[in-house]
Amino acid sequence: MKRVAIIFMLLTISAATFCASGTSVPDTLRLLSIANSYGQDAVEQNLHEIALADGHVMIIGNMYIGGCSLERHWNNAAADSATYSYRKVSAEGIHTNTKGVTLGSSLKDEPWDIVVFHQASALSGKPETYEPYLTDLLRYARARTPKKCRMMLNQTWAYAADATHPAFPDYDRNQQKMYDALCDAYRAEAKKHRLSLIPSGTAVQNSRASYNGDNVTRDGYHMHWWFGRYLVACTYYEAIFGKDVTGNAFRPQNLSAERTLLAQKCAHAACMHPFTVTDVKAGPDYFSRYVASLEMTPHIREYTLPDALTMKDGSRVDTPEKWFGSRRPELLELFETEMFGKAPGRIDGTTWDVIEEDRNALGGKAVRKQVKIDFNRNGRYITVLMYLPAGAAGKVPVFMGLNFEGNASVSTDPGILYPTHSHAKAYGVYTAPARGAQAERWPVEEIVSRGYGIVTFHTSDVDPDFDDGFRNGVTPFIFKEGQLYPEPDQWGTISAWAWGMSRVMDYLETDPDVDACRVAAIGHSRLGKTALLAGARDERFAMVVSNCSGCCGAALSRRDYGETVESIVHLFPHWFCGNFFKYARDVDSLPFDQHELLALVAPRPLYVASAEQDAWADPTGELLSLQEARKVYDFLGLDRGLTGYHIHEGGHGITLTDWTHYMDFADRYLK
Ligand code: GCU
Repeated sequence: MKRVAIIFMLLTISAATFCASGTSVPDTLRLLSIANSYGQDAVEQNLHEIALADGHVMIIGNMYIGGCSLERHWNNAAADSATYSYRKVSAEGIHTNTKGVTLGSSLKDEPWDIVVFHQASALSGKPETYEPYLTDLLRYARARTPKKCRMMLNQTWAYAADATHPAFPDYDRNQQKMYDALCDAYRAEAKKHRLSLIPSGTAVQNSRASYNGDNVTRDGYHMHWWFGRYLVACTYYEAIFGKDVTGNAFRPQNLSAERTLLAQKCAHAACMHPFTVTDVKAGPDYFSRYVASLEMTPHIREYTLPDALTMKDGSRVDTPEKWFGSRRPELLELFETEMFGKAPGRIDGTTWDVIEEDRNALGGKAVRKQVKIDFNRNGRYITVLMYLPAGAAGKVPVFMGLNFEGNASVSTDPGILYPTHSHAKAYGVYTAPARGAQAERWPVEEIVSRGYGIVTFHTSDVDPDFDDGFRNGVTPFIFKEGQLYPEPDQWGTISAWAWGMSRVMDYLETDPDVDACRVAAIGHSRLGKTALLAGARDERFAMVVSNCSGCCGAALSRRDYGETVESIVHLFPHWFCGNFFKYARDVDSLPFDQHELLALVAPRPLYVASAEQDAWADPTGELLSLQEARKVYDFLGLDRGLTGYHIHEGGHGITLTDWTHYMDFADRYLK
């Protein structure tokens, strides 16, 4: 017994040395994964790039059948069944997908250096489900691969604590229990077959123990498009090459530097301690910085703002023609390519239908209309909710803005439609709001009583507000065949929301009750950033209102106060385009600052509002920014009154008091 144990130890150590020394790593390393969707998460993206950044070329194959267990793989091998999608990444990083492939032929397709197996997630913690299938599969694979080919086992991961996976009850819906069970099963199999292990499941647990929390999956069990997939690829890299992945130069688009490093540290710690969760002690402490910012006294950071009236080539903007003809387009282009990402125009085939209308709503005070703007693509449509003053003599001016929680959150009016079940499902994450949950932000009756209409729609209709890798919103509309993510200058979520405002404007131009020449774009907070971009981009908006829009809205980035560019791209990477990330730690290199976004609204009326206790949004930075933007209004010879400002008592929010200021202001320009 003792002798067997010693021989086993020696073999394991030599396997580890073989891996860690790196001496046996061939020029091009060929890895075949025999897996399921977890294999897709693990090897199809990032791994090739991580290896390349460290000077290694990889050819990667992934034999894919959704949910496939070891038993099914073995049955497929025995029956030589051609049921796999054989997904491959070539040495040049080109992706192909061949359907109807057998296991036998994939094993012969390349002189593989490594073949990786894993159990289906649902069965991963059930040791009795591994055998005899793994034994059979290993024998089968060894007979078809070069002698030097290493067989490895990928430790799959436990589900998110709130996962709805049908197999989760088998583990009493307990993440720790699932993790412990799968550790035991993989450890026993690795030992039995003398396989080295890729400790992905532990890397995932490490990240859960960090500031990242349980935000590593996208649906409770598959890896998050950016962070989770990268984390697992890092684990593969280090386990295969035996090189510390920390510091690897490849960084996936839309993953901040901090989370990239966090993933690397979690992967590295897992490779060091494959069955123990490690506190990797990583992380910027943005949230405590946030709390601290609430009490912060303004600090003065030295900065020089770019001059709105100087062109990129250094020449002076000396005439209004040069502003409108050259500088304005130049600045807009910079905001689009470097911060928010470019959006398309109208989508061919878009239709609109008034799906509900009540000309006697809110006890006779308002006309309520609900309009479906259907892009007839990917099932995406916007449901617009409108309240217009009842009995208006002609077309009315309106305020248009997105809402955070769904149209039904705007008022307790029972006539507001709820999203259909399938539509809500397409949002990815969505909890139907209580009717009127955000009614305080939308004083509808007061607004219509002053002669204005309200036009609103839900962010999720355009792009749900979370980092899902740009799958579930309108963003894929512009992707070319095979494109998975926006290009570095293509739209992020804020740009998509602002685009949505323009599409609603297209409809308003046809509505007989609305004066499309008197539409004010309005938004609070992230939606204030959106309103500014919509107004800058689409000159059909006759006025723009930004309420507590803060960082990347009205506030100056270079002050680096409250929320900073570094923290916003970390917390909300999906809001921006890929090009923006390079400025995270170098705001001084931004080719613009936010006063120039405000200036793009000229010559139209612009209103900025802040809140006294909203240090996170840097009220001073918002005011200074507006003052700078006024220089452009002055230069254009415009009335100073066209730029309004107030700061309300209290914190981050929008209330009737703010709306009253906006309507008073609008009375001057939209009435
Ligand atoms: C966060 C975020 C801000 C944003 C705000 C909001 O605080 O950091 O940038 O403006 O949410 O939209 O409420």
